[in-house]
This record gives sequence, structure tokens and C-alpha cells, in this order.
Amino acid sequence: MALEAYVTRVIPQPGIDLLREHMNVTVNDGDRPLTADELKEYASSHDALVTLLTDWIDRDVLEAGRDRLKIVANVAVGYDNVDVDAASELGILVSNTPGVLTETTADFAWALLMGIARRTAEAQAFLRAGKFEGWGIMMMLGEDIHGKTLGLAGFGRIGRAVAKRASGFDMTVQYYDPVISEEEAGSLLPARQVDLGTLLRTSDFVSVHTPLTPETKHLIGASELASMKPSAYLINTSRGPVLDESALADALSAHTIRGAALDVFEHEPSVEPRLFGLDNVLITPHIASATVATRTHMATMAAQNVIAALSGERPPTALNADEFRKR
Ligand code: GLV
Repeated sequence: MALEAYVTRVIPQPGIDLLREHMNVTVNDGDRPLTADELKEYASSHDALVTLLTDWIDRDVLEAGRDRLKIVANVAVGYDNVDVDAASELGILVSNTPGVLTETTADFAWALLMGIARRTAEAQAFLRAGKFEGWGIMMMLGEDIHGKTLGLAGFGRIGRAVAKRASGFDMTVQYYDPVISEEEAGSLLPARQVDLGTLLRTSDFVSVHTPLTPETKHLIGASELASMKPSAYLINTSRGPVLDESALADALSAHTIRGAALDVFEHEPSVEPRLFGLDNVLITPHIASATVATRTHMATMAAQNVIAALSGERPPTALNADEFRKR
């Protein structure tokens, strides 16, 4: 039987071309998230699924694939949309795309940080609305970035890449990461390891870089926001549910923090409606890794994982290869 892969949304063509050198490939040209029933149908009739973070690959979908599906290759570094434990139990590999989007995502966290501190989106909206009637010394005053304290909630690959960029701004860098060991932490100086409370209380910019897990859901809620400096900014390029978006809207409305910049939302694609009415928030539609080069790398990396899995080899970035029991 010919090998068959199903790609759940349009992805950069080099990823599809690479897959096509090895197997038949069907792409959901509709480029809309598939329904649970559609996902189940394709899981049962294909050897590989190439998925995006908008696909909920839960136990039901994986059960549907139990007789044929060998790999779910998620084109994202985050994989909270895939039930990896269920996949392991069913002998289905899961892979993600770590590494290739680190620098691009870090660049974008900085774009958000600088954009909110210097009010670029707000200033552009002002100008486009024809409100610029002459230079004003009091116009659009923002906050400095250089010399401030940057706090990173999560100090994995992306958090560290964000930290690296801070040295050009003479910033003090501190981070909270319960997963990093004392030894590793020591080797990561000049960044200082602190607890979450200290990070929130003492940082001028808090940038979130944790994966979404049951432990990190609402890591930053009402009381954490209340502990931040009134002059501080919060930036999130990780996953929306790590922040309590409604509590954030309360804090921004009450000006208990200075501002926030968000690329991810708790209930994507919905956005807490109150955020649209606030000037002290910069919002973008989950585009932190969205450059041509990086999205292309992500697509080809997913394809390489599929090709390896279907040739009986260990996929280069499998998440559960160790738990995997060969069928
Ligand atoms: C994007 O959010 C990703 O996880 O790759």
C-alpha cells in the first residue's frame, strides 16, 4: 500500500515537495482548521498527519488512527494541542519543530517590547487618523528600554535568545524557571535566577516564554499582575492561557501596570473584547515565528520527521520516541 500523508492546512511548499518525494500527500487546500470528525477520518486513513497548532489532536483522533497512523508531525514548537501521552500509549510518534524558530520568535518578542514601550502602533493609528497636526514635546511619551530590568518567565531556548538581545540595551536580566537546575543556572549568568514573585515585583519588562502545561495555565493571574510595578510592561509570545486574559484586561483598564503586548490569546482566535478598546496594549495575531525563512524551516522539519518515521527511523525531533513501542 502506498504511503499517505495528510497535511491539515496549507504550509510552505518546500515541506510538501519534500514529502512528495517519498509518499502521496493530500493537503487541506481549504486552509481552515479541520473539524474533529475530519481529523478522525484522516487519522484513520493516513500513515502520517502534518498538523498545526489549530488542530486538536486528542485521544479520540489518535484512537481513530490506531491501526494505521504512525506519526503526528506538529508544525510548531509548542505541542499543547496534541495528547502526547495518548499517542505514546497507542504507539504513534509525535514530533515538533524546536530550534528553528527560536531566534525569529525572540526577535518578535523584542518587536512587541519596543512597540509597546515606545507606543509605535498607537502612534501610527494617531497619524493615520489625521491627528498629527504638528510636532509636540508632550506627544506620545513612552518609556525607555535601555538600562531597565528584563524579567523572563521561562528560560528555555526562546527566553535565552531574548536575554541575549538585552545586552545591547544594557539591561539587567533576571529569569524564573523552575525546570532549570542550579548548575545550569550558574552557567547562564549574567542572568540572575529569581523566584516568580521577585521577578514580577522587580522587573520593568516581564516577557513570558513557558510552554503551556497544566502547571503554567494562568501562571500570571490577578494577584501576580497586582504584584507588578505600576510602570511595568508584560509581553507574551508563548501561549495565551499562561495569562489570565480577563485579569489582564482589568489590570490594563485600571492602569495597575503600564502596558502589555500580546501575540497569543487565551481563546484564539477570540480576543478578550475589552483589549480592543485599550491604548496600553499592543496585540498581534500569533505571528511571532512568521517569517518566510522560519515557517519554511518548520515545514521542512516536520516533513523530515514524517519521512524518518515512515522509513522506520527515529524522527529527528520526536517528542515520544523513547516511550514509543514499535507496533
Ligand atoms: C508557535 O506558537 C509555535 O509553537 O511554534
